[in-house]
Amino acid sequence: MTGEPLVLGIETSCDETGVGIVRGTTLLADAVASSVAEHERFGGVVPEVASRAHLEAMVPMLERACAQAGVRLDEVDAVAVTAGPGLAGALLVGDAAGKALALALGKPVYGVNHLAAHVAVDQLEHGPLPEPTIALLVSGGHSSLLLVPDVSADVRQLGQTLDDAAGEAFDKVARVLGLPFPGGPFVDTAARDGDRTAIAFPRGLSGPRENLPDAEHRFDFSFSGLKTAVARWVEQRQRAGQEVPVADVAAAFQEAVVDVLTAKAVRAAREHGVGALVLGGGVAANSRLRAVAAERCDAAGLRLRVPRPGLCTDNGAMVAALGAELVARGRTPSALDHPADSAMPVTQVLA
Ligand code: KG4
Ligand code: ZN
Repeated sequence: MTGEPLVLGIETSCDETGVGIVRGTTLLADAVASSVAEHERFGGVVPEVASRAHLEAMVPMLERACAQAGVRLDEVDAVAVTAGPGLAGALLVGDAAGKALALALGKPVYGVNHLAAHVAVDQLEHGPLPEPTIALLVSGGHSSLLLVPDVSADVRQLGQTLDDAAGEAFDKVARVLGLPFPGGPFVDTAARDGDRTAIAFPRGLSGPRENLPDAEHRFDFSFSGLKTAVARWVEQRQRAGQEVPVADVAAAFQEAVVDVLTAKAVRAAREHGVGALVLGGGVAANSRLRAVAAERCDAAGLRLRVPRPGLCTDNGAMVAALGAELVARGRTPSALDHPADSAMPVTQVLA
Protein backbone atom coordinates (compact mmCIF):
# COMPACT_ATOMS: atom_id res chain seq x y z
CA MET A 1 0.00 0.00 0.00
CA THR A 2 1.39 3.38 -0.96
CA GLY A 3 0.09 6.60 0.57
CA GLU A 4 -3.38 6.71 2.05
CA PRO A 5 -5.47 3.53 2.14
CA LEU A 6 -8.08 2.92 -0.56
CA VAL A 7 -11.06 1.50 1.34
CA LEU A 8 -14.39 0.23 0.09
CA GLY A 9 -17.30 0.40 2.54
CA ILE A 10 -20.59 -1.50 2.48
CA GLU A 11 -23.71 -0.49 4.42
CA THR A 12 -26.91 -2.58 4.62
CA SER A 13 -28.16 -2.14 8.20
CA CYS A 14 -31.60 -0.79 7.29
CA ASP A 15 -33.18 0.14 3.94
CA GLU A 16 -30.23 1.72 2.12
CA THR A 17 -27.74 -0.37 0.16
CA GLY A 18 -24.63 1.79 0.20
CA VAL A 19 -21.22 1.24 -1.32
CA GLY A 20 -18.65 3.98 -0.81
CA ILE A 21 -14.99 4.30 -1.67
CA VAL A 22 -12.54 6.61 0.07
CA ARG A 23 -8.81 7.23 -0.08
CA GLY A 24 -7.88 8.24 3.46
CA THR A 25 -10.32 11.05 4.23
CA THR A 26 -11.06 11.81 0.57
CA LEU A 27 -14.44 10.67 -0.73
CA LEU A 28 -14.17 9.05 -4.18
CA ALA A 29 -17.57 7.39 -4.58
CA ASP A 30 -20.86 7.09 -2.76
CA ALA A 31 -23.41 4.82 -4.46
CA VAL A 32 -26.70 4.35 -2.62
CA ALA A 33 -29.85 2.44 -3.57
CA SER A 34 -32.87 2.79 -1.28
CA SER A 35 -35.79 0.42 -0.87
CA VAL A 36 -37.81 3.10 0.94
CA ALA A 37 -40.53 3.17 -1.76
CA GLU A 38 -41.14 -0.56 -1.24
CA HIS A 39 -41.90 0.03 2.45
CA GLU A 40 -44.12 3.03 1.96
CA ARG A 41 -47.45 1.23 1.96
CA PHE A 42 -46.54 -0.50 5.25
CA GLY A 43 -45.67 2.80 6.97
CA GLY A 44 -42.35 1.40 8.16
CA VAL A 45 -39.38 -0.69 7.02
CA VAL A 46 -40.23 -4.38 6.49
CA PRO A 47 -37.07 -6.38 7.28
CA GLU A 48 -37.57 -9.18 4.71
CA VAL A 49 -38.30 -6.68 1.96
CA ALA A 50 -35.17 -4.71 2.87
CA SER A 51 -32.98 -7.84 2.87
CA ARG A 52 -34.18 -8.89 -0.58
CA ALA A 53 -33.61 -5.39 -1.92
CA HIS A 54 -30.02 -5.40 -0.56
CA LEU A 55 -29.36 -8.65 -2.36
CA GLU A 56 -30.59 -7.21 -5.65
CA ALA A 57 -28.78 -3.89 -5.29
CA MET A 58 -25.40 -5.12 -4.02
CA VAL A 59 -23.63 -5.89 -7.30
CA PRO A 60 -25.03 -2.84 -9.15
CA MET A 61 -23.91 -0.55 -6.29
CA LEU A 62 -20.43 -2.14 -6.22
CA GLU A 63 -20.14 -1.55 -9.96
CA ARG A 64 -21.45 2.00 -9.71
CA ALA A 65 -19.06 2.92 -6.89
CA CYS A 66 -16.03 1.52 -8.73
CA ALA A 67 -17.04 3.41 -11.89
CA GLN A 68 -17.57 6.66 -9.94
CA ALA A 69 -14.21 6.35 -8.22
CA GLY A 70 -12.42 5.15 -11.33
CA VAL A 71 -10.89 2.20 -9.48
CA ARG A 72 -10.91 -1.56 -9.93
CA LEU A 73 -11.87 -3.83 -7.04
CA ASP A 74 -8.39 -5.37 -6.99
CA GLU A 75 -6.88 -1.96 -6.21
CA VAL A 76 -8.77 -1.73 -2.90
CA ASP A 77 -6.54 -2.04 0.19
CA ALA A 78 -9.29 -3.04 2.61
CA VAL A 79 -13.02 -3.74 2.79
CA ALA A 80 -15.16 -2.30 5.59
CA VAL A 81 -18.71 -3.43 6.22
CA THR A 82 -21.40 -2.58 8.76
CA ALA A 83 -21.46 -5.50 11.21
CA GLY A 84 -24.17 -3.94 13.42
CA PRO A 85 -26.37 -2.69 14.90
CA GLY A 86 -29.32 -2.96 12.54
CA LEU A 87 -31.83 -5.38 11.05
CA ALA A 88 -30.38 -8.90 11.33
CA GLY A 89 -31.25 -10.14 7.83
CA ALA A 90 -30.27 -6.88 6.19
CA LEU A 91 -26.90 -6.84 7.97
CA LEU A 92 -26.21 -10.41 6.90
CA VAL A 93 -26.43 -9.53 3.21
CA GLY A 94 -23.84 -6.75 3.43
CA ASP A 95 -21.61 -8.60 5.87
CA ALA A 96 -21.53 -11.68 3.64
CA ALA A 97 -20.78 -9.52 0.61
CA GLY A 98 -17.94 -7.75 2.44
CA LYS A 99 -16.40 -11.01 3.63
CA ALA A 100 -16.70 -12.59 0.18
CA LEU A 101 -15.01 -9.60 -1.45
CA ALA A 102 -12.22 -9.54 1.11
CA LEU A 103 -11.63 -13.27 0.69
CA ALA A 104 -11.65 -13.09 -3.11
CA LEU A 105 -9.33 -10.06 -3.15
CA GLY A 106 -7.03 -11.33 -0.40
CA LYS A 107 -7.57 -8.10 1.54
CA PRO A 108 -8.49 -7.48 5.20
CA VAL A 109 -12.11 -6.97 6.25
CA TYR A 110 -13.23 -4.58 9.00
CA GLY A 111 -16.69 -5.32 10.42
CA VAL A 112 -17.58 -1.91 11.83
CA ASN A 113 -20.17 -0.32 14.08
CA HIS A 114 -22.82 1.64 12.18
CA LEU A 115 -23.03 4.38 14.82
CA ALA A 116 -19.29 5.00 14.91
CA ALA A 117 -19.43 5.19 11.10
CA HIS A 118 -22.07 7.96 11.35
CA VAL A 119 -19.51 9.93 13.38
CA ALA A 120 -16.44 9.10 11.25
CA VAL A 121 -18.11 10.24 8.01
CA ASP A 122 -17.74 13.87 9.06
CA GLN A 123 -13.98 13.56 8.47
CA LEU A 124 -14.70 13.37 4.73
CA GLU A 125 -16.13 16.90 4.86
CA HIS A 126 -14.57 18.71 7.76
CA GLY A 127 -11.20 17.04 8.29
CA PRO A 128 -9.93 15.18 11.37
CA LEU A 129 -12.45 14.90 14.21
CA PRO A 130 -11.65 16.86 17.34
CA GLU A 131 -10.75 14.42 20.11
CA PRO A 132 -12.86 14.11 22.10
CA THR A 133 -16.08 15.07 20.39
CA ILE A 134 -19.76 14.73 21.32
CA ALA A 135 -21.96 13.08 18.71
CA LEU A 136 -25.74 13.27 18.45
CA LEU A 137 -27.03 10.53 16.13
CA VAL A 138 -30.69 10.78 15.27
CA SER A 139 -32.42 8.69 12.63
CA GLY A 140 -35.35 6.35 12.11
CA GLY A 141 -33.45 3.62 13.92
CA HIS A 142 -31.37 5.39 16.54
CA SER A 143 -31.16 8.36 18.88
CA SER A 144 -27.85 8.31 20.69
CA LEU A 145 -25.73 10.81 22.48
CA LEU A 146 -22.10 9.72 22.43
CA LEU A 147 -18.82 10.83 23.91
CA VAL A 148 -16.15 9.99 21.34
CA PRO A 149 -12.55 10.30 22.53
CA ASP A 150 -11.33 8.21 19.53
CA VAL A 151 -13.74 7.07 16.83
CA SER A 152 -11.49 4.12 15.96
CA ALA A 153 -11.32 2.67 19.45
CA ASP A 154 -13.14 4.56 22.18
CA VAL A 155 -16.84 5.41 21.82
CA ARG A 156 -18.94 5.85 24.96
CA GLN A 157 -22.68 6.09 25.22
CA LEU A 158 -24.00 8.95 27.35
CA GLY A 159 -27.65 8.46 26.47
CA GLN A 160 -30.12 6.93 24.09
CA THR A 161 -33.84 6.79 23.50
CA LEU A 162 -35.82 4.69 25.94
CA ASP A 163 -38.60 4.12 23.39
CA ASP A 164 -39.05 5.60 19.88
CA ALA A 165 -36.14 6.89 17.84
CA ALA A 166 -36.38 10.59 16.92
CA GLY A 167 -37.01 9.80 13.24
CA GLU A 168 -39.63 7.24 14.19
CA ALA A 169 -41.48 9.95 16.14
CA PHE A 170 -41.34 12.22 13.07
CA ASP A 171 -42.67 9.39 10.90
CA LYS A 172 -45.52 8.53 13.30
CA VAL A 173 -46.58 12.14 13.77
CA ALA A 174 -46.52 12.62 10.00
CA ARG A 175 -48.89 9.70 9.72
CA VAL A 176 -51.26 11.25 12.26
CA LEU A 177 -51.18 14.45 10.20
CA GLY A 178 -51.84 12.60 6.95
CA LEU A 179 -48.37 13.34 5.52
CA PRO A 180 -46.45 10.79 3.37
CA PHE A 181 -43.80 8.28 4.58
CA PRO A 182 -41.04 8.75 5.58
CA GLY A 183 -42.54 11.73 7.32
CA GLY A 184 -39.53 13.66 8.63
CA PRO A 185 -38.95 15.84 5.56
CA PHE A 186 -42.71 16.51 5.20
CA VAL A 187 -43.05 17.58 8.84
CA ASP A 188 -39.99 19.80 8.36
CA THR A 189 -41.57 21.46 5.32
CA ALA A 190 -45.04 21.80 6.87
CA ALA A 191 -43.52 23.32 10.03
CA ARG A 192 -42.05 26.23 8.06
CA ASP A 193 -45.50 27.82 7.85
CA GLY A 194 -46.46 26.99 11.42
CA ASP A 195 -46.24 28.65 14.82
CA ARG A 196 -43.91 26.59 17.02
CA THR A 197 -45.37 28.14 20.17
CA ALA A 198 -48.98 27.39 19.16
CA ILE A 199 -49.17 24.21 21.26
CA ALA A 200 -47.10 23.31 24.33
CA PHE A 201 -46.11 19.68 23.72
CA PRO A 202 -44.16 17.78 26.41
CA ARG A 203 -40.35 17.64 26.51
CA GLY A 204 -39.53 14.01 27.39
CA LEU A 205 -37.10 13.32 30.26
CA SER A 206 -36.41 17.04 30.63
CA GLY A 207 -38.08 17.86 33.92
CA PRO A 208 -36.22 19.38 36.86
CA ARG A 209 -35.61 15.89 38.26
CA GLU A 210 -33.98 14.55 35.08
CA ASN A 211 -31.82 17.65 34.83
CA LEU A 212 -30.11 17.07 38.19
CA PRO A 213 -26.37 16.42 37.76
CA ASP A 214 -26.58 12.73 38.69
CA ALA A 215 -30.03 11.94 37.35
CA GLU A 216 -30.13 8.54 35.70
CA HIS A 217 -31.76 9.69 32.46
CA ARG A 218 -30.34 13.14 32.02
CA PHE A 219 -28.81 12.26 28.66
CA ASP A 220 -31.51 9.81 27.59
CA PHE A 221 -34.47 10.60 25.34
CA SER A 222 -38.10 9.55 25.24
CA PHE A 223 -40.37 10.48 22.36
CA SER A 224 -43.34 8.16 22.79
CA GLY A 225 -45.12 10.45 25.27
CA LEU A 226 -44.74 13.34 22.84
CA LYS A 227 -46.04 11.24 19.96
CA THR A 228 -49.08 10.24 22.03
CA ALA A 229 -49.68 13.85 23.09
CA VAL A 230 -49.71 14.93 19.45
CA ALA A 231 -52.08 12.10 18.48
CA ARG A 232 -54.45 12.96 21.36
CA TRP A 233 -54.42 16.65 20.48
CA VAL A 234 -55.22 15.92 16.83
CA GLU A 235 -57.96 13.41 17.76
CA GLN A 236 -59.64 15.91 20.06
CA ARG A 237 -59.76 18.50 17.32
CA GLN A 238 -61.15 15.99 14.87
CA ARG A 239 -63.77 14.76 17.36
CA ALA A 240 -64.88 18.34 17.92
CA GLY A 241 -65.28 18.69 14.18
CA GLN A 242 -62.54 21.30 14.00
CA GLU A 243 -59.89 21.60 11.34
CA VAL A 244 -56.41 20.38 12.30
CA PRO A 245 -53.80 23.14 11.88
CA VAL A 246 -51.18 20.85 10.33
CA ALA A 247 -48.44 23.48 10.10
CA ASP A 248 -48.81 24.51 13.76
CA VAL A 249 -48.88 20.92 15.02
CA ALA A 250 -45.82 20.07 12.90
CA ALA A 251 -43.94 23.16 14.11
CA ALA A 252 -44.80 22.66 17.79
CA PHE A 253 -43.96 18.94 17.67
CA GLN A 254 -40.68 19.58 15.85
CA GLU A 255 -39.76 22.26 18.39
CA ALA A 256 -40.27 19.82 21.27
CA VAL A 257 -37.96 17.23 19.65
CA VAL A 258 -35.31 19.75 18.64
CA ASP A 259 -35.36 21.52 22.01
CA VAL A 260 -34.66 18.29 23.90
CA LEU A 261 -32.04 16.98 21.48
CA THR A 262 -30.00 20.17 21.38
CA ALA A 263 -30.31 20.98 25.10
CA LYS A 264 -28.99 17.55 26.07
CA ALA A 265 -26.21 17.55 23.46
CA VAL A 266 -24.94 20.97 24.54
CA ARG A 267 -25.14 20.03 28.22
CA ALA A 268 -23.20 16.81 27.53
CA ALA A 269 -20.45 18.81 25.84
CA ARG A 270 -20.26 21.26 28.73
CA GLU A 271 -20.23 18.58 31.44
CA HIS A 272 -17.53 16.58 29.68
CA GLY A 273 -15.43 19.59 28.77
CA VAL A 274 -15.76 18.87 25.05
CA GLY A 275 -15.49 21.62 22.42
CA ALA A 276 -17.23 20.08 19.42
CA LEU A 277 -20.56 18.52 18.51
CA VAL A 278 -21.11 16.34 15.44
CA LEU A 279 -24.62 15.58 14.15
CA GLY A 280 -25.50 12.48 12.16
CA GLY A 281 -28.44 10.34 11.03
CA GLY A 282 -31.37 11.23 8.79
CA VAL A 283 -32.97 13.63 11.29
CA ALA A 284 -29.79 15.74 11.15
CA ALA A 285 -31.20 16.93 7.80
CA ASN A 286 -33.95 18.72 9.76
CA SER A 287 -33.75 22.45 9.15
CA ARG A 288 -34.90 23.46 12.63
CA LEU A 289 -32.50 21.02 14.33
CA ARG A 290 -29.63 22.52 12.34
CA ALA A 291 -30.69 26.06 13.17
CA VAL A 292 -31.19 25.53 16.91
CA ALA A 293 -28.03 23.42 17.20
CA ALA A 294 -26.09 26.23 15.50
CA GLU A 295 -27.58 28.87 17.83
CA ARG A 296 -26.99 26.91 21.01
CA CYS A 297 -23.49 25.77 20.04
CA ASP A 298 -22.61 29.33 19.23
CA ALA A 299 -23.88 30.53 22.59
CA ALA A 300 -21.95 27.78 24.37
CA GLY A 301 -18.73 28.29 22.40
CA LEU A 302 -18.95 24.86 20.76
CA ARG A 303 -17.87 23.98 17.24
CA LEU A 304 -20.79 22.37 15.37
CA ARG A 305 -20.02 19.92 12.57
CA VAL A 306 -22.85 18.65 10.40
CA PRO A 307 -22.13 16.56 7.32
CA ARG A 308 -24.22 17.36 4.26
CA PRO A 309 -27.60 15.56 4.23
CA GLY A 310 -26.47 12.80 1.83
CA LEU A 311 -23.73 11.81 4.27
CA CYS A 312 -26.02 12.08 7.35
CA THR A 313 -28.41 9.43 6.07
CA ASP A 314 -27.19 5.83 5.80
CA ASN A 315 -24.55 5.36 3.11
CA GLY A 316 -21.46 3.31 2.25
CA ALA A 317 -19.04 6.24 2.40
CA MET A 318 -19.46 6.46 6.18
CA VAL A 319 -18.42 2.83 6.53
CA ALA A 320 -15.45 3.36 4.23
CA ALA A 321 -14.51 6.49 6.21
CA LEU A 322 -14.40 4.55 9.48
CA GLY A 323 -12.57 1.68 7.74
CA ALA A 324 -9.90 4.08 6.48
CA GLU A 325 -9.47 5.50 9.98
CA LEU A 326 -9.02 1.98 11.38
CA VAL A 327 -6.44 1.16 8.70
CA ALA A 328 -4.62 4.47 9.27
CA ARG A 329 -4.45 3.80 13.02
CA GLY A 330 -3.15 0.27 12.47
CA ARG A 331 -6.09 -1.49 14.11
CA THR A 332 -6.25 -5.28 13.72
CA PRO A 333 -8.85 -6.25 11.10
CA SER A 334 -11.88 -8.39 11.97
CA ALA A 335 -11.80 -12.16 11.54
CA LEU A 336 -13.28 -13.47 8.28
CA ASP A 337 -15.88 -15.28 10.36
CA HIS A 338 -16.85 -12.26 12.49
CA PRO A 339 -20.58 -12.22 13.21
CA ALA A 340 -23.09 -9.65 12.02
CA ASP A 341 -24.63 -8.49 15.29
CA SER A 342 -28.02 -6.78 15.20
CA ALA A 343 -27.48 -5.59 18.79
CA MET A 344 -23.79 -4.63 18.46
CA PRO A 345 -23.07 -2.33 21.42
CA VAL A 346 -22.07 1.20 20.49
CA THR A 347 -18.93 0.83 22.59
CA GLN A 348 -17.68 -1.88 20.22
CA VAL A 349 -16.23 -0.11 17.17
CA LEU A 350 -14.98 -3.25 15.47
CA ALA A 351 -16.37 -6.82 15.33
O1 KG4 B 1 -30.50 7.80 8.64
P1 KG4 B 1 -31.76 7.46 7.92
O2 KG4 B 1 -31.81 7.68 6.44
O3 KG4 B 1 -32.14 5.95 8.11
C1 KG4 B 1 -32.23 5.33 9.33
O4 KG4 B 1 -33.33 5.41 9.92
O5 KG4 B 1 -31.23 4.75 9.80
O6 KG4 B 1 -32.91 8.28 8.64
C2 KG4 B 1 -34.24 8.25 8.19
C3 KG4 B 1 -35.08 9.02 9.19
C4 KG4 B 1 -36.58 8.92 8.91
O7 KG4 B 1 -37.24 8.70 10.13
C5 KG4 B 1 -36.90 10.29 8.33
O8 KG4 B 1 -38.25 10.68 8.56
C6 KG4 B 1 -35.93 11.16 9.07
O9 KG4 B 1 -34.74 10.41 9.13
N1 KG4 B 1 -35.71 12.43 8.38
C7 KG4 B 1 -36.05 13.64 8.89
C8 KG4 B 1 -35.73 14.61 7.91
N2 KG4 B 1 -35.18 13.97 6.84
C9 KG4 B 1 -35.17 12.63 7.16
N3 KG4 B 1 -36.61 13.96 10.06
C10 KG4 B 1 -36.85 15.27 10.29
N4 KG4 B 1 -36.58 16.25 9.41
C11 KG4 B 1 -36.03 15.97 8.21
N5 KG4 B 1 -35.75 16.95 7.35
ZN1 ZN C 1 -28.01 5.15 10.52
